[in-house]
Formats: sequence, C-alpha cells, structure tokens
Amino acid sequence: MTRIAVLTSGGDAPGMNAAVRSVVRTGLDRGLEVFGARHGYAGLIAGDFVQMSARDVGGIIQRGGTVLGSARCEEFKIDAGRRKALEHLQRREICGLIIIGGDGSQTGAYEMSRLGFPVIGIASTIDNDLNGSEISIGVDTALNIALEAIDRLKVTASSHQRAFLVEVMGRDSGYLALMAGIAGGAEAIVIPEVETHPEVISEELRLAYDRGKPHAIVVVAEGAKYNADGLVQYFREHRKRLGFDLRATKLGHVQRGGAPGVFDRLLATQLGAAATELLASGKSGHLMGLLKGRIAATPLSEVVAKRKTLDLRLLDLAQVLAK
Ligand code: ADP
Ligand code: F6P
Repeated sequence: MTRIAVLTSGGDAPGMNAAVRSVVRTGLDRGLEVFGARHGYAGLIAGDFVQMSARDVGGIIQRGGTVLGSARCEEFKIDAGRRKALEHLQRREICGLIIIGGDGSQTGAYEMSRLGFPVIGIASTIDNDLNGSEISIGVDTALNIALEAIDRLKVTASSHQRAFLVEVMGRDSGYLALMAGIAGGAEAIVIPEVETHPEVISEELRLAYDRGKPHAIVVVAEGAKYNADGLVQYFREHRKRLGFDLRATKLGHVQRGGAPGVFDRLLATQLGAAATELLASGKSGHLMGLLKGRIAATPLSEVVAKRKTLDLRLLDLAQVLAK
C-alpha cells in the first residue's frame, strides 16, 4: 500500500483535526502518500482530494472542527454513490481509506469495506453512541463545555431562585445529558431513552423548591420526547406548581465548536496512529476505539449491528444525588 486517504464525516467533533494530523504524519513516517478527501463522503463522490504534507497539518491539533470539512451525504447511502467514490479512489490509485466519524459514518465505512475496499474507522462523535469505543473523540470536550454552562447557569439561577432547563445535544442519545447532568449536579435529567412525563419533572422541581433549594437544573437532551421547547410549553400552563420561576437555555452547536481538551487530543492522536498502522498492515473493516482503557480494533460489522446502550443505573443514581 502506497497511497491512503483520510476524511471526516457527520457531525464535527473537537479532536477530529488531531486525528487527521496523526494519520497524515504517521502515514508519511511509514512512507505512504496521504490524501485528504474534502467534506466527507461528498468529497469522495466528487473526487475532491488534496495531497497532504506534514506542514499541511501544522497548527491544527488545538483547533476544533475539521480542516478537511465535513458533510452529511445522502448519495453515499446508495450503492451507485459508493461506486462513484470507488471509481475516484481507483483513478487516484488510493488503496486505503480512514474514516473519522460517528455511527452513520461508520455504517458508510462498513459498506465500503463490503465492496472490497480497505477501510479503517476512527470513533469520533460527541454523542458517544458508537459501539466499539467506550468514549469517542469529542465527547470529553463537549461535556466540559456543557458543564461550564451548567455551572454558570447555576450561579445566576441561585441569585433569582430560578429553575433552568438546559438543553444539550443528542438527537437519539442521552449520553451527553446524563453525564453532564450528573457532573453538574442536576435536579433532573431527561433523555430520549426514557420517556419522562412533564408531571414528573414538575413534581421534582416542586420538591426541590419546598426543600429550600435556591436553584434547580434540569438537563434535557434535544431528542427527548419533551425537550426544552416541549417542557416550556407544558409548564406555561402549570407554572405555579413548580415554585421556581423558569428559564430555558439551549446549548446546541456551542458544544461541538470548542477547542479539544487534552483528553480528546491524546485519544485522537493515538487512534489516528493505530488506524494508519492497521490499514498499512493490510487489515480492513475495523473501527479503532478505546476499550477498557486501551486502543482496540472492533470489526465494523459488530459496531453497526446494534445500538449502543446507556447504563440507566446512572439515571437512578442522579435522582438519589439530587436530594
Ligand atoms: P455521524 O457519522 O456523526 O453519525 P450521520 O449519521 O449524519 O453522522 O452520518 C454521516 C454520513 O455517513 C451520512 O451523511 C452518509 O453519507 C453516511 N451514512 C450514514 N448512514 C449510512 C448508510 N446506512 N450507508 C452508507 N452511508 C451512510
Ligand atoms: O454530532 C451529533 C449531533 O450533535 C446530534 O446530537 C445532533 O442532533 C446533530 O449532531 C445535529 O447536527 P447538525 O445540525 O449538524 O445536523
């Protein structure tokens, strides 16, 4: 193998750049030529490649986002789209691909490997919903951003004896909400995996108020049945029962745009190096992730076969700790 390509796909995550840098520099160190495909799978389909030197990835380890650009690309979900990508790769004599992204992106990687093209994935999504890695690139930084926001909201909430709904990302996954809620000492946590009726939240807030708490924080995942908008609407009519005055803050993409912290830089660097090594050694169809504290490869077939589950005992623990 002499030429490989790397791309970033799906929702960007702090640390993607550190992974790109690691792939490029470890690839060059092994005597490979390394190309970047711009804007994820869209770049593969359009044949939008750029050859990368060690200098091209200078000064990016500390930057959030992705210098290669990312995209959601519907065309890649169909066989014809993937075959176009394959043609461009073959025309450029690129014989291996590293895909940095979340579960959708790794499903695309799996499909490429099923076409016989050598592919290795790198676990990267702030949602942390990817099997094959206990923690993905970007999660730690996104959590710290959410936590800083919660800490700040608690300060102003306490001054006014208010309750805050803090909405964090997670269309299908409650990981960010659960962990940010526990670390931020939330009074209640609402996640997509468990349907929580607004009456339950109302009751918890009322109890917190009656216990004399100066504030209450409810961390809500955007994908929960009752997210911040849903709860605000519900409480418009039932507000008096809460005790607290209520405000809502949506963190949204703020969580994705941060500069990667030390954990994400180190994780991304190690995953990038391990992915390059595995690809160069002739392996394909695996995801590089962190399992039991070690960098490990898991077959993509296993990664995409089922949804990652949350440890819901942590939700019970959060409730106990909120007393
Ligand atoms: P993430 O990788 O962060 O989970 P998405 O779920 O949006 O983000 O997926 C990113 C991209 O991966 C999609 O836009 C698409 O190009 C590709 N992808 C997702 N699902 C599939 C699939 N079933 N088959 C092939 N490619 C897919
Ligand atoms: O990166 C994953 C994620 O953060 C989801 O939690 C969220 O629903 C989604 O991305 C939104 O991303 P976009 O607005 O880029 O489609």
